[in-house]
Amino acid sequence: MNNPLHIFTVVGARPQFIKAAVVSRAIEQYNRDAPPRILKEDIIHTGQHYDHGMSRVFFDEMEIPEPAANLGVGSGSHGAMTAAMLVGLEKEMLARRPNLVLVYGDTNSTLAGALAAAKLHVPVAHVEAGMRSFNRRMPEEINRVLTDHVSDLLFCSSDSSRDLLAGEGITEGVHVVGDVMMDAAMYYRDRAIRPKRTSAFALCTLHRAENTDDVERLGRILSALGGSPVPVVFVIHPRTDKVVRRHRIEVPGVVEVVASMSYLEMLGHLEECLFVITDSGGLQKEAYFFGKKCITIRNETEWTELVDADANRVVGADPDRIAAAFEWAGGGLSDPKPIYGTGEAGDKIVRILSAT
Ligand code: UD1
Repeated sequence: MNNPLHIFTVVGARPQFIKAAVVSRAIEQYNRDAPPRILKEDIIHTGQHYDHGMSRVFFDEMEIPEPAANLGVGSGSHGAMTAAMLVGLEKEMLARRPNLVLVYGDTNSTLAGALAAAKLHVPVAHVEAGMRSFNRRMPEEINRVLTDHVSDLLFCSSDSSRDLLAGEGITEGVHVVGDVMMDAAMYYRDRAIRPKRTSAFALCTLHRAENTDDVERLGRILSALGGSPVPVVFVIHPRTDKVVRRHRIEVPGVVEVVASMSYLEMLGHLEECLFVITDSGGLQKEAYFFGKKCITIRNETEWTELVDADANRVVGADPDRIAAAFEWAGGGLSDPKPIYGTGEAGDKIVRILSAT
């Protein structure tokens, strides 16, 4: 086939593997249908997440194509990490000469991919564009704003993201396609690995710097979780685990700490849980996909549609608000609307990419 479109996909952190799995599969499907122009994808892993349970297991379980390269950047300060990624990604881009660079979400790997490409005049496509918390102290907010402003194609999960971009003067190349995590949840749901427990439980994750870097705040949150009416399965991120151990933060008896889970295990827990407690962006959406209410342990959220739908309560680290949210969350959601599309975001993205 003549002149394939060569896509260079940058991933590095756990949520990006999940999102990239959807688009990679859509690319393969597109190519199978004998299109006028083949799409050739090279996945480059920055190595931001490197533990087996944070990286490899997702590639295996979700059947993500093997990365063409892994930069092995690992952890470090934001500057050191992003700089090492920039150097590595620029080298790979110069060697592989892609026509387009595809980045996901808001991590340091997203920013590094977008910046390296923009400086080499390679068009950038950003999946999950237009998300804003309006809190510039979050590293993710800096990553989002900068990435959107150097992107040529901006794929939004919902109308509100498109409107936010318009407010910043970005109107060209913006497409509302739905959310690729919705596609993933729908595609992998049948393979979900359900937990063995039979009694009601809440599903919890916490890893944001704003919660984990403030030991007093993390202690306050964990102590407030002690008021949960049902056991809390706390799926701990390595970042949080380190802080809890180092500072010997007390974990109440009702909170059961378990190691990070694979995607299919997480889906099984989402199916079975009573409600969700999290500071993650992705899990707020996933709770909704599975008809569960979400208590968000942050001071603001980007997923404001969920708050408007009374599916999400943003409670900060305030023990009284957390306690009040427990009462609210037990009921579950009746009839969640398809705010984030109906599972076709990946196909829409690929169709738009193929037309560039
Ligand atoms: C990153 C993203 C965040 C995303 C999250 C998903 C940034 C700024 N943040 O946060 O937006 O929601 O990923 O998980 O990019 N660590 C390990 N093993 C690993 C990976 C990390 O032990 O496989 C440890 C690191 O050593 C470090 C800590 O976790 O101490 C933080 O890792 P980092 O990638 O900087 O940020 P996350 O908290 O994972």
